[in-house]
Amino acid sequence: MPDISALPDFTPAHFRVAPLAESETIPSSWYTCAGYHALEQEQILARTWQGIGHVSRLENAGDCIVAVVADNPVLVVRGNDRMLRAFFNVCRHRGGPLATEDGHCRMLQCHYHGWTYRLDGSLRGVPRWDRVDLFDKKDYGLVRITRNGASLLAGKSFFKRVVYDVRCNWKVYVDNYLEGYHLPHVHPELCSLLDVQKYVTETGEHHSLQYSPFQSGDSIYGSGGNEAYYFFIWPNVMLNIIPGRLQTNRVVPVCHDHCQVIFDYFYDDVTSPEARQRADADLEYSHKIQLEDIGICEHVQRGLGSRAYDRGRFSVECEEGVYHFQSLLKRAYERIYAASRA
Ligand code: FES
Ligand SMILES: [Fe+2]
Repeated sequence: MPDISALPDFTPAHFRVAPLAESETIPSSWYTCAGYHALEQEQILARTWQGIGHVSRLENAGDCIVAVVADNPVLVVRGNDRMLRAFFNVCRHRGGPLATEDGHCRMLQCHYHGWTYRLDGSLRGVPRWDRVDLFDKKDYGLVRITRNGASLLAGKSFFKRVVYDVRCNWKVYVDNYLEGYHLPHVHPELCSLLDVQKYVTETGEHHSLQYSPFQSGDSIYGSGGNEAYYFFIWPNVMLNIIPGRLQTNRVVPVCHDHCQVIFDYFYDDVTSPEARQRADADLEYSHKIQLEDIGICEHVQRGLGSRAYDRGRFSVECEEGVYHFQSLLKRAYERIYAASRA
């Protein structure tokens, strides 16, 4: 565990959760200090549910997807026995990668010196290994990620992945996602699509939901009566659902002021030319919204780093989702603090 005594603003007083109407936002140091990045990667991101891909990309034995979770390269592969297994994507020889991109393989082969592993992770072939003593292949299988996976989403087809680099702390991005308060100022066009007066936020134990009906009248998202649902799953996964389309986001912390946001798009149908056209229009529109969000988040990161700012307040009407997320974060920090004293 990183040295928590060196972290600014890491005390029980800072973890206290006040009622929303009285609460301050979390201290700016939690967004700007590099020590928090290491702490969160190890103690939060590595220990929570992470959606890294859709099962439709892992249909056949040998199908494989790669990801980075809490700074660790991982891969998920479908075995010949149909089992899905997750491993660290790290060769037991000298740390090379078994896969550098999603794909399909008969076995896993390290890109560095060519060691091979079976799809169940056991070591198979070790080239030019004569005269090595005290070496048993059984001791050098891939390291398995023991957490149980859950299959959450089915019934839609994967269409496209888009990855954005954002120069802000991952929590700035999550905060921004969790409120519709900024819509009129950052996304005026989206405001004309959604009926923002009817925007609702609900919170659960480890998730929250924002939803809003679309305005009546025709738009790329069809006519009135449809709704948009924005689910957030603690700590960094989002599911954005409109009729016929699911978009998942995973916010990946890279360092204290840099994150990557991975968008995966799934549709009920992308086979007919009309459906394809609708999907393309959706992608283009979402990209535009995303650039608006990135722009504001990068400004906010600079603002949080300024001498002028430490903590702010919440709109009770519009920022319950942000408050909920920040309260979960405080509770997580509190547990880490308590564990460090035990
Ligand atoms: S690091 Fe994998 S074979 Fe050398
Ligand atoms: Fe936004």
